[in-house]
Amino acid sequence: MSYPGNITAPTEEWTIGRALARAACHLEQADIPRPDFEAQYLLGAVLEINRAALFLSLDNRMEAREAQRFSAMVDRRMRGEPLQYIVGQVEFWSRTFHLTPDVLIPRHETEFVLEQTIALVKGRFACPETLQLLDMGVGSGVIADVLAKELGCHVVGVDISPAALAVAAANIRRHRLDSQVALVCSDLFAALSRLRKFDCIVANPPYVAESEKGELADEVVRFEPEQALFGGDDGLDCYRRLIPESLTFLHPGGWLVLEIGASQGPAITAMLQHAGYTDVTIRPDYSGRSRFACGRKE
Ligand SMILES: C[S@@+](CC[C@H](N)C(=O)[O-])C[C@H]1O[C@@H](n2cnc3c(N)ncnc32)[C@H](O)[C@@H]1O
Repeated sequence: MSYPGNITAPTEEWTIGRALARAACHLEQADIPRPDFEAQYLLGAVLEINRAALFLSLDNRMEAREAQRFSAMVDRRMRGEPLQYIVGQVEFWSRTFHLTPDVLIPRHETEFVLEQTIALVKGRFACPETLQLLDMGVGSGVIADVLAKELGCHVVGVDISPAALAVAAANIRRHRLDSQVALVCSDLFAALSRLRKFDCIVANPPYVAESEKGELADEVVRFEPEQALFGGDDGLDCYRRLIPESLTFLHPGGWLVLEIGASQGPAITAMLQHAGYTDVTIRPDYSGRSRFACGRKE
C-alpha cells in the first residue's frame, strides 16, 4: 500500500489533516465501514491523543516515524484486521484493556451479563467483598477484572490458553487487582482441587455453532481465536461439561451464571434443570436477545 504516500516523501508534506484524509480515502476504497472515524481512531492511537485534540492539530506536521506507524496500521486495517487488535487495546466497562489476537475482543453482550451478575450477587449475598468467584474462560480478563473491581471480591480466572492468560495477567496488573485476582491454566476444572468451592461461577464460554461459522463476519473468523469462538456442532459442547461439573465447585446456594447465544435459551434451561439447578432464569438483553442464564445450586 502506498499510504500515506511514500514514507520517504518530505515529512513536511504530511500534516495530520492530510494524513487523515488520505487514510480515510484508502479505507473507503477497501470497503471499511466508517472510514473517517477509523482513520481518526488509528491516528489518535499513534499520536496518543483523543479525537478532540486531533481536530485541534490538523495543521500540525507528522514525524516520519509517526507517519510510518500510521501507514502500517492503515495497511493492517485495509486487510480486514479488527481495529482493537491493531491498536492493542479496547474500551470495556469504561476501562481500557490491553488486547492481542490471542483473546476474543470483548463484546457489549458481556457488559450486559456483568450488569446482571453484579445485581444478582449484590441482591443475594450480604457481603460481596468476602465472596470467592470463578471466571471460567477468562480470556482478556474483562469479567474477572470488572467483578473484582465492582464487588471488591476475590476471583479465580481460568483459561485453557496460556497466551490468553498472559493478556489477562497484564490487564489485572494494569488495574492493580493482583491481590484480588488469581489466574490458573486449566481445561475447565481439571487443574483445580475438588475441595475448592466458589459462591458464584461466571462463564462466557465459546458458544458459536460450527454450522454458524458462515454467518460470522469475515474479520471475526479470520482474526479472532477459534478456541474462544466455537463450541462444537451446535455450540453447546462447553456448556455440556461446564454445567454439571460446576456443581462440584459451588457452595450450596452458589450460583452459576452463563453468557449464552441468542437462540440457546431453551437448551441451556433444559441442561441447568436436568443437572439439578434451581431458580433457573434466562434474561434478554436490551435488544431482546437471550444472553444471560443462571441457576442456583440447592
Ligand atoms: C468467548 S471467550 C471469553 C473471553 C472473556 N471471558 C470475555 O468474556 O471476553 C472464551 C474463553 O474460554 C477459553 N476456553 C475455551 N475452552 C476452554 C476450556 N476447555 N477450559 C478453559 N477455558 C477455555 C478460551 O481460550 C477463551 O479465552
